[in-house]
Amino acid sequence: MAFKEEIQRRRTFGIVSHPDAGKTTLTEKFLLFGGAIHVAGAVKSNKIKKTATSDFMEIEKQRGISVATSVMGFEYKGYKVNILDTPGHQDFAEDTYRTLTAVDSVIIVIDAAKGVEAQTRKLMEVCRMRNTPVIVFVNKMDRPSRDPYEILDEIEEELKIEVRPLSWPIGNGPDFKGVYNLFEQSLYLFTPNKQTLEEGISLDVNDGKLADEIGKSSAEELREELELVNGVYPEFDKSPYLEGKVAPVFFGSALNNFGVRELLHCFLEIAPSPRPSVTEEREVQPSEEKFSGFVFKIHANMDPNHRNRLAFVKICSGHFQRNTNYKHVRLGKQMKFSSPTAFMAEKKSIVDEAFPGDIIGIPDSGNFKIGDSLSENEPLHFKGLPSFSPELFRYIENADPMKSKQLAKGIDQLMDEGVAQLFVSQFNGRKVIGTVGALQFEVIQYRLLHEYGASCRYEPINLYKACWLESDDETELQDFKKRKNQYMAKDKFGRDVFLADSSYMLDMARENFKNIKFHFSTEF
Ligand code: G4P
Repeated sequence: MAFKEEIQRRRTFGIVSHPDAGKTTLTEKFLLFGGAIHVAGAVKSNKIKKTATSDFMEIEKQRGISVATSVMGFEYKGYKVNILDTPGHQDFAEDTYRTLTAVDSVIIVIDAAKGVEAQTRKLMEVCRMRNTPVIVFVNKMDRPSRDPYEILDEIEEELKIEVRPLSWPIGNGPDFKGVYNLFEQSLYLFTPNKQTLEEGISLDVNDGKLADEIGKSSAEELREELELVNGVYPEFDKSPYLEGKVAPVFFGSALNNFGVRELLHCFLEIAPSPRPSVTEEREVQPSEEKFSGFVFKIHANMDPNHRNRLAFVKICSGHFQRNTNYKHVRLGKQMKFSSPTAFMAEKKSIVDEAFPGDIIGIPDSGNFKIGDSLSENEPLHFKGLPSFSPELFRYIENADPMKSKQLAKGIDQLMDEGVAQLFVSQFNGRKVIGTVGALQFEVIQYRLLHEYGASCRYEPINLYKACWLESDDETELQDFKKRKNQYMAKDKFGRDVFLADSSYMLDMARENFKNIKFHFSTEF
């Protein structure tokens, strides 16, 4: 197949949701359609169980299983579909945000009874930062749900994106009769507990047969509602969707496999093939002949006997080939990869080649950091791997003076993997670890001991947020740094960070230093 066609037929995306909305179930149904798995439950086993939240070793074991399914590739109707799995567990949210930098589009799953939840909002913010096209799937319509208009309004308001329903539910909960698909102009009838694989009935809403299918009053109601929908929302147009301005919305029930195939078909038709990537130097087009890519995730093996890590590389341009020399831009050295792996549903296997949009896994013994670029000689630096202000902070101290070197190395490598963020106080040189969830502190302590033979202890520090600073007024910036030197730190890239201890302190700083912008993420 021609190189350009290979790119055109690729769909690399992520399915995200607030925990429990149905991300795992939807992913699984997609894989069943793609013939990539044959039994329900195959994906489920990778989910971090809620009961395991306090036992991170258990979580790591489960994460171990999930390496193979971190990326789920399959062929469907001539498309090469790559689903990038994101950890649902909130403590690994940072991992999810980074994974979103490697996708070309996103499907957000929302619970029809709960509507937009906290994690959904945060995930959408990340999508908005890079104008990622988004489709929304309103799930669990088989359960008593909220009014569809109310849900749509909430999506617009809370996720700050315009919506365009492409399917419309007929009732909900015990009265859920099905959906009318506005994209295909067809009716899909719902039968509870039946894994429907039937095609929809091609039916104009004004066709008299509609009443035979769903009853007279439902048919009338549906007609009225659709008239309103078509009046309120402008006709669906692909371009604002591709620009990340309008989100098409589908309704259904992932568990009942209802509304899933229509979602998948529409998705394949409208979702973008690999998009250009931004580097510090220039924009890279997928169709460029020369290979380039970047590392967005590193998965470490927790088993001390098999210490190897796996670096996940998103291919941004060109034709990647096994055993070919490529440049590791940060290290300035040529490297060849003899066993890159591709991910096909449950399996991981060595591949000879890969194309833009694909993700390959490269076994690594410590050469890679998150954000590293690979290329054919051109010194490209891919942008867009943001750091967000952590939620929790602690001082990290050496508990074994004989092992300070090991500790420093361990901390360094764990930060390269993106387990947490490190800030070094400019005032007293103490190291502060910042994380999204409490679990990471345990993970770090355990891994430092078992992988590096170093021991650490934590001391409390009362911090509210880490802020990256931006200002055109150099004098004011210097003045601020001098006055707040007790609160100034450097992140791992040497950038200045203001560690505010309360929202009040931050408000005061904003008030007193009007020419300085305080950002909660490194992308501004
Ligand atoms: P997540 O990955 O977003 O966290 O959600 P997941 O798919 O695991 O779904 C969370 C729960 O919601 C599961 O139930 C799942 O079976 C259920 N669910 C998903 N889609 C639907 C749907 O369309 N309708 C209904 N009624 N339920 C749905 P659970 O009891 O937590 O898990 P399990 O015991 O079934 O595995």
